[in-house]
Amino acid sequence: MPRSDTKTVYVCSECETRFPRWEGRCSRCGAWNALNEFFEPRNRPGSNGGAIGSRISDPISMVEPIELSRVEANTSKRLGTGIGEFDRVLGGGAVAGSVLLLSGDPGVGKSTLLLQTAGSVAARQGSVLYVSGEESADQVRMRAGRLGVSGDRIFLLNTDDVDAVVARIDILKPGLVVVDSIQTVTAPDVPGAAGSVNQVRECARRLTARSKMSGIPLILAGHVTKDGSIAGPRVLEHMVDVVLQLSGDGPGNLRTLHGIKNRYGHTNEVGVFEMGTKGLLEVSDPSRSLLTDRSTRPEPAPGTAVAAVIEGTRPLIVEVQALTAPSGGQTARRVATGIDLARMNQVVAVLARRVGLPLASQDVIVSVTGGMRLTEPAADLPVAIAIASSLLDVAVDVGLAAAGEIGLSGELRAVPQADRRRSEADRLGFRGCILPVNAGGESYGSPEDDRSGVRVGTLGEAVRAALPRQRDGLHYAESRVAAEPGA
Ligand code: TYD
Ligand code: MG
Repeated sequence: MPRSDTKTVYVCSECETRFPRWEGRCSRCGAWNALNEFFEPRNRPGSNGGAIGSRISDPISMVEPIELSRVEANTSKRLGTGIGEFDRVLGGGAVAGSVLLLSGDPGVGKSTLLLQTAGSVAARQGSVLYVSGEESADQVRMRAGRLGVSGDRIFLLNTDDVDAVVARIDILKPGLVVVDSIQTVTAPDVPGAAGSVNQVRECARRLTARSKMSGIPLILAGHVTKDGSIAGPRVLEHMVDVVLQLSGDGPGNLRTLHGIKNRYGHTNEVGVFEMGTKGLLEVSDPSRSLLTDRSTRPEPAPGTAVAAVIEGTRPLIVEVQALTAPSGGQTARRVATGIDLARMNQVVAVLARRVGLPLASQDVIVSVTGGMRLTEPAADLPVAIAIASSLLDVAVDVGLAAAGEIGLSGELRAVPQADRRRSEADRLGFRGCILPVNAGGESYGSPEDDRSGVRVGTLGEAVRAALPRQRDGLHYAESRVAAEPGA
């Protein structure tokens, strides 16, 4: 309930326009369901009386414009965490004054990673303020013991009061602040329970302001449920500089760290860890770890293909799995984990129209093993091969990996860094890599060097190369499509 000295406003999360009452659609920017409820003191300066369509703005006198050329870029000042896979995803470390949200399911290892990071920073760089609202000091101490973190120069603050944290940052001036988690801190003067949208947003705002002002990097932990239904982290994504997600649906104890947003680096870098008895260990050879399930299978399974992708700056070899099943008269279901669903649907459509595979009445489920997320268009081809392999129930040639972007007419488009993909596949014992013939200006080596590579121009050729035992069936399907244009 708003108190008498506060009033309720609704603020659009997209354009920050304020409204006196809730509306389904922001009438300024047109965003649907973007209005969030806030309580604010009456007579807030600069609020313009809350008139419809007004924007939150600071009084002009408080903000001085700076000539762009005189703005000092602070991205060179990065705090290396000393944990290589973490720094990789950050783009070389945490930028001074930046705010990072580490999200992930409960139990995935966020607190473990943060305590290890605190230990590493404290040992190499400077003191760390570690705010734990979730675990008691005892529990953190015990965990530190297990992780081999001495605890020197890590200052543990067991509080849920955000203002106490802000005050302590000023006194301690640490090199890094960790708040585990943002859902457990509260601003006492703001209505709402810990973890509510109001609280999360206001606490993050106060901590962020202090971090920016002091130049101290801040890491916030936040849980997200599978469907993203806890509002907190979603609200936060707009406010912070970097959002990383720790996921753990890989084989065994593999954990992957993906960038979702990064104002200071690429978001396609991925960090790979393994959860052991002494916490998270960096995985030195992610391709090999990601393929462990595959190497333990006695027989090659239909519906699996191997993708040679470049995630960020390094090549990775990852398995893609597909399952097709008759949808039994219902609307065909399409499910994608680890790749974009729209992209998968496009691949399915091209397989149906250009290769002639009868996929219209099939459910198609695709997933990428190891909890990896493939964002590269080059993942199209391995996805297509896995789907074709499942549909035709023929295993893919185990010696071949694949990479290629699929065009709507069934042609394959060149992929960048083909050589690095091939060498990575080679290193892991693959005989070769199916790649688009159109090199797009890239050096693929001479055809003689390329005995191990399979170069193809169309999706149909690629599927035939990957599924040699199915050549005739495919040929039949293709000629039928050719004979019935528009079929
Ligand atoms: P935790 O970091 O508490 O997860 P989060 O903060 O994301 O909720 O990790 C908890 C899990 O990790 C728990 O199931 C125990 C396991 N774990 C290990 O396997 N090894 C370890 O060394 C530690 C500290 C935890
Ligand atoms: Mg935790």
